[in-house]
Amino acid sequence: MIENNSREADILHEAYRRGFCDFYGRDFIVTPDVLIPRPETEMMVDAVLNLAGKSFLPGVRPAPRVLPKNPRILDVGTGSGCIAISLALEFSEAIVVASDISKEALEVAKKNAEKLGAKIEFIKSDLLDDVSADFDVVVANLPYVDPEWDWVDGKALAQEPELALYSGDGGLKLIKKLINQVVRRKIPYLILEADPCQHERIVEYAGDKGYSLVKTRGFILIFQNKKD
Ligand SMILES: C[S@@+](CC[C@H](N)C(=O)[O-])C[C@H]1O[C@@H](n2cnc3c(N)ncnc32)[C@H](O)[C@@H]1O
Repeated sequence: MIENNSREADILHEAYRRGFCDFYGRDFIVTPDVLIPRPETEMMVDAVLNLAGKSFLPGVRPAPRVLPKNPRILDVGTGSGCIAISLALEFSEAIVVASDISKEALEVAKKNAEKLGAKIEFIKSDLLDDVSADFDVVVANLPYVDPEWDWVDGKALAQEPELALYSGDGGLKLIKKLINQVVRRKIPYLILEADPCQHERIVEYAGDKGYSLVKTRGFILIFQNKKD
């Protein structure tokens, strides 16, 4: 999510000007109410497909399936809906729910689901507070930018909603809160995006609560509940 030169600012500006951004091979509507989907986030979709025993790249052998045949997937902080919608379209057996605290972002996500023909339930919620169902896997690309990071190009990110970018406690406040909620619900798998410089702290925090790291790939961390 971190941009550090003006070319990146131009790319983000261009996506808002066009009103569309490519993600996982599809065009998503974007407005100033949502984050512009980033290429590194596509690996979240790959990660779920991998847990489902599905091939996500030509030449990559599918891993053994660890999710049920019709897994219940929750995308927390869905923004434009890019992760949830891609999952629903790539993985038709899955039951996909998407949530966000922003009513405006959810409106954009609903438009994208309609445009792309994805069946998704949308819920307005602060993390899991108003989400009652159980899930096999939670995916979340929550805000993780620490406002103190001096390598962040404020000009590039100024076009995007602050609510989608910044979090306190070194960028980890929301991620830690979500980990605690996922632990209480005993959700089997948790997939998070964060800057690689934050991964060690996240792995330690989740590990203390019984969630062990299965794998990291780029910005993505995959955890499994080992306790229950
Ligand atoms: C980094 S953006 C990710 C958007 C999209 N999932 C993507 O990957 O492009 C983070 C999203 O989390 C939402 N968000 C921020 N705080 C939240 C909270 N407490 N509960 C739920 N969603 C939240 C923001 O509105 C924003 O849409």
